[in-house]
Order: sequence, then structure tokens, then C-alpha cells
Amino acid sequence: MIRKFTFGNPLSTDAVIATIPSSMDALPYFTSPETGSFLYKMEEDTLIYGLGEAVRGINKRGWIYESYASDDCNHAENKRSLYGVHNFLIIDGKKDLFGVFFDYPARLTFDIGYTSSNRLVITPQDNNLDIYLIESDDINDIVTQFRQLIGQSYIAPKWALGYGQSRWGYKNAEDIRTVVRRHREEHLPLDSVYMDIDYMDNYKDFTVNENRFPDFPSFVEEMKREKIHLVPIIDAGVKIEEGYSVYEEGVHNNYFCKKEDGTDFTAAVWPGHVCFPDFLNPAARRWFGLQYNTLLKQGIDGFWNDMNEPAIFYTPERLTNTLKELGDYCGRNLGVDDFFELKGKMEGLSNADEDYRSFYHNADGKLLRHDKVHNLYGYNMTRSASEAFEELLPEKRILIFSRSSYVGMHRYGGIWTGDNMSIWGHVLLNLKMLPSLNMCGFLYTGADLGGFGENTTEDLLLRFLALGIFTPLMRNHSALGTREQEVYQFEKSDVFRNLLMIRYGLLPYLYSEYVKASLKNKMLFRPLRFVYPKDSRAAQIEDQLMLSDELMIAPVYEQNVSGRYVYLPENMRMIRMRSLKDYDTELLPAGDHYVTIPLDTVVFFLRPNCIIPLSDGGENITEISGISLKLLGYVTDTASYDYYDDNGYEKDYGDPAHYNTIRVTASGNTKVTGERRLELSIASI
Ligand code: NOJ
Repeated sequence: MIRKFTFGNPLSTDAVIATIPSSMDALPYFTSPETGSFLYKMEEDTLIYGLGEAVRGINKRGWIYESYASDDCNHAENKRSLYGVHNFLIIDGKKDLFGVFFDYPARLTFDIGYTSSNRLVITPQDNNLDIYLIESDDINDIVTQFRQLIGQSYIAPKWALGYGQSRWGYKNAEDIRTVVRRHREEHLPLDSVYMDIDYMDNYKDFTVNENRFPDFPSFVEEMKREKIHLVPIIDAGVKIEEGYSVYEEGVHNNYFCKKEDGTDFTAAVWPGHVCFPDFLNPAARRWFGLQYNTLLKQGIDGFWNDMNEPAIFYTPERLTNTLKELGDYCGRNLGVDDFFELKGKMEGLSNADEDYRSFYHNADGKLLRHDKVHNLYGYNMTRSASEAFEELLPEKRILIFSRSSYVGMHRYGGIWTGDNMSIWGHVLLNLKMLPSLNMCGFLYTGADLGGFGENTTEDLLLRFLALGIFTPLMRNHSALGTREQEVYQFEKSDVFRNLLMIRYGLLPYLYSEYVKASLKNKMLFRPLRFVYPKDSRAAQIEDQLMLSDELMIAPVYEQNVSGRYVYLPENMRMIRMRSLKDYDTELLPAGDHYVTIPLDTVVFFLRPNCIIPLSDGGENITEISGISLKLLGYVTDTASYDYYDDNGYEKDYGDPAHYNTIRVTASGNTKVTGERRLELSIASI
């Protein structure tokens, strides 16, 4: 059951698609002791799930989180905000079980037992918000109800589940050719190469630098012949430059965010001074979205939207004032307080609260100060692209994912989890975020594998990839100036090849589960607790995940270890894969096990009476057969699997002809019902 409670006069966020009248009752579960805060008293062992893209645990208790989309490339567990804002929690206690969504686009704080260990206190910036309460006695049903409320998740084209290589710093076509050639020469699977800001002409959106990429459409064609999709980045800020049509049209039509005096708000990002399109203005949103056609017409079929919190390096006013103030420090012998004050002044240049309070949106004639709708900006940038794709190419799936997001954006695109670092803790952080993102409908998601900032190491990249082979977005990405981290840069190229091949082997299963999770409003990755609600140990597990109904994953996230402890809530069959052809399996009883997982091995666990389809692998998505499949399973009685497959680029997902039911008995007999004829063989059951 879903109930809506309205406080004050909330702004419409379009996060929710269902129309639910506001309840006249008082909000249950919560009291409001401090003005404007919502207080829930947690029991000693109440678990709190959710918050989507956030630091810390799967169980979010014990920290304070702030919903305010933030550009922070140095984030670790000490931070409170990341790039996306997903105000959904599940309260899982002995007494109460419910989901709660705070639909609120401004700053919101979740103090989850930080100030006082048993108090959950949620404090919005002002008291205008909608709260949705979702009740059920099944935690999975709470998620499904929430997802029905917010609408079906975006489905990416199938090729976008192939492996992608990215780096900030591929300067020109030749650099990209090298990346592709090296992968192909060394038989390392690859489906896409990402183009970071270097491809643009002076960092101007929707332009291509002609010296670096002469005859771009032919280059896109050439890459297509290599079966590579190029995926350019698009930034939120539009460079201020006379003669640049995007800028001039935006000015002419009043499509940019304004200052209080009605002039265009100016900030600085990569190109220097920029204006920010007013994505909350429907006309501006459509206009910006249609700009993507410039690149679509040149053969591009995928994009990533960046810097859309929006990130602000500085505003000209702040820079001038700060430089003036810095002058006062010149020639002085600075004491410790003065020195830190000086440092703070420099750091305060970027993403300043005061700047976010100094510009306005025009949403259907209503002026909205940016800080009050801050969390909707990246969402609406991606919506702008997605709505334009729907208008321009209604039949075709275009890849789109974003850095910043809000609940609701999952209908328009995926997300990546921003600028992580090449540190071991970020492998685990990646794992922990997956279920909470899935709850909010973000299924097409993944981290920068290998780590974005800082220098990676071969073992870290291997372990990152060993988790990434399970995430729909599987992309290796790194920052300018860091160690080059394409898989061919390292010694163990056989191990990398096998690892990537395992991903391609798993693709029929992963794609099937990914699309079904979207169509059925389910999660792909779940905490163990969601599958084993009565198992108190399962509730404590913070470093293993259930993958759909069939698998459990338990990646290694520490340096110099050749294995890890794994908790099995029931008997499972462990698959230890070195390659698609070289693997062994072992039946393990429920309980704790130390499992050796050397660097060249991927381990996952099959649940009883479950089967999954595997392909023979391939160097590219086009080589993956969706017909000739090997079945891997743990069958003591009978198992059945609903296999979904389609052509991967059209939008007829709902067609029943895309399904086959595969049945296997313990004797190894297989039976298939469905429209398409499958060629099945048994790998191991
Ligand atoms: C920030 C993004 O998070 C990162 O992925 C990208 O490489 C840089 N911007 C440069 O475009």
C-alpha cells in the first residue's frame, strides 16, 4: 500500500508517475520534535537500506548523509553527498517494515543514528515536500511498489552491456584507433570507446575538433566497421562565445538560467565562462535535447552527460572577490589560522552554496531559485536528451547515462557513480551502492573500473573488473594524468582476456536479467537479507550480493589476498572460473567458508535448483549467440529459467516472443517452451 503525505506547497519534481491523492491522516511512524524535522525511533537492530548513490554501508545506519548533488572527486567515506540524490529508505525492523520516499529537490539531511544512535532524523531545507510511505510485509514488494510509483527503468541498447574503454586524455582519432587496435590485436573483447572532453572544439558541446578528428562521420563509420560504438561526453555548461550557435540560440531564446537581475548567469567550467541551460524550462529542455542530433546525424548512438550537478569551478564575481581578498595575505607571515583561512578561500571558489543561491530557473513561468531545485538539474539534462531521442528516433535505443541524477531520472537513462579513485575501498563502495541504486530504478549503472583518480595497479584493476563483469555498465575509465589503465598496459594480458571473456560468456544471462528487472520493477543486485529475511547473519553481510534469483557474488576487495571469507545462507554450488573453458565447481554447505580466489579467478555461487545460460564468449557483442547456449546450474530436482532476449536495439521489449522458458531436470534433460528455438547444451549442472 502506498500513501502520500503532503507538507506545505511542494514543487513538482516529476519523480513519481502515479497520481496519488494526499492523505488527510497524520504521517505515521514519524514525529516532528524539532521544527521541520521528521524523527523515527529505530530499534537496536533496525536496518536502514537505501539512499541510492551514497557513501558507507549497505545498511546506512551510523552516519549522516546530505542530499545535495555534489561534484567531489576526492570522495571517501568521510563525505556526506555524492553526485546523485535518491531520497528513498527502507526501514527494516522487528516492529516496522516500510519504505519511505522524500520527494524533495533541495537540501535534505538524513541523520541515521549519527547524533543519537537510535534516532533517524530527516531535515529538509524548508517544509514543502511530499512523503510517500510504502508498506508491505515483503521487503522486495516494497521495492516493486516504489518502482511502480516512479515508473519503468530505462533500457540501454544491448551493445552497451559490452566492455567499454574510456580515458580522459584520448586526444585524437589516432589515440582511439590505437586503443581499438590493441584490443583487437590482443583479442581483448571491446564494444565501445568513450570520448571525453578532448574531442570537442574548445570544450563546446556538440562540436568536434576538426584537427583532432578530421572527417568525424567517416571516423565513426570506420569504428563501426570495427564494431566499436563511440560514446562522446556532453557537459552541462555551454561555452560563451559569439558565433557559437548553441550559445547564441540559448541567449536569443532566454534558455539559460538567469541571475536575479534577469541577465544570464555566468559560471566557469572546462571552456572558461559558460551559461547553464535551464533544463527545468520545458522549451529549453527540448531545445538542448535536439542539439544531440548534431552528433546522432554523424553516426553516434550513445552519450554520457557530465558536470551536471551542475559543477561550478568559479563564478567571475567570486573569483574577482577572492583574488582581491587574497591580496591582503601577500607579504604577510601567516600564522596557522590565517594560512588555513587562505586555503579555505581558494577551495571555496568551487561549487559555492552562495552561487547556487544566485541563479534562477523559469519552470512554466514560475521563477525558482536554483538551490531549491538543485537536485533536479542533472536529472532534467538527461531527460532533455532522452525526450529528444524519443522524438528523433522513436524506434531506436540510444545509450545515455549521467553523472548527477534524482529519482525519476532512471526512466530516461543510467548513471555511473562518478569520480572514484584507484583505491581498494572503492571496489567495496561500488558493491555497496549497487542494491541501493537498484531500489531507485537505476539498473544501468557501474563504477569507473580501475578507479578514476590516482594511479591504479594491475591487481586492483583485476579485482575491480571481477566485480564489474556483473554490472550492466562495464567501463574502464581514468583521469587525465593518471597511469594508463587499458587492460593491455599490464603484464597479465591472458588473465584480463579471460576475465573479459567471462563477462561475454555471462551476457545472455546478464542481459536477460537486466531487461526483466526493468520490465518487472525488480532489483538486479540485492542485499542477502532481501532473499533470506529470517537469517540474522544474512542481515549483517556487507560485502556479498545476490544477483537476481540465481546467483550470489562475493568479490575480493583487498590487496595481496588470495581469497576471502564467504557466508552461504544455504547450500550453494561454487563456480570458480579462470576462463569460460577452464572452471571447476564445488558444492558447499550453508555456513562460513574461506574461499581461495587468486587474481586469475572469478568466483560466484549458484543457488539450489537454479540454472543460468552462458554463451561461448566473443570479442564483441555481435559475436555472442543468444541461441546456442550452455547451461550452468545447481540442480538437485528441477530448475527452470525464463530466458529473455531481443535484438538489442529496438524498443519492443514487451513482446512475449522474446521469452523462452528453459527447464532442466537433475538427470540433465532439458525442455524449452517459447517462440525461439534454442540450441542448449549442458555445461555443468
Ligand atoms: C568529470 C567526470 O566525472 C569524469 O568522468 C570526466 O573524465 C571528467 N569530468 C572530464 O570530462
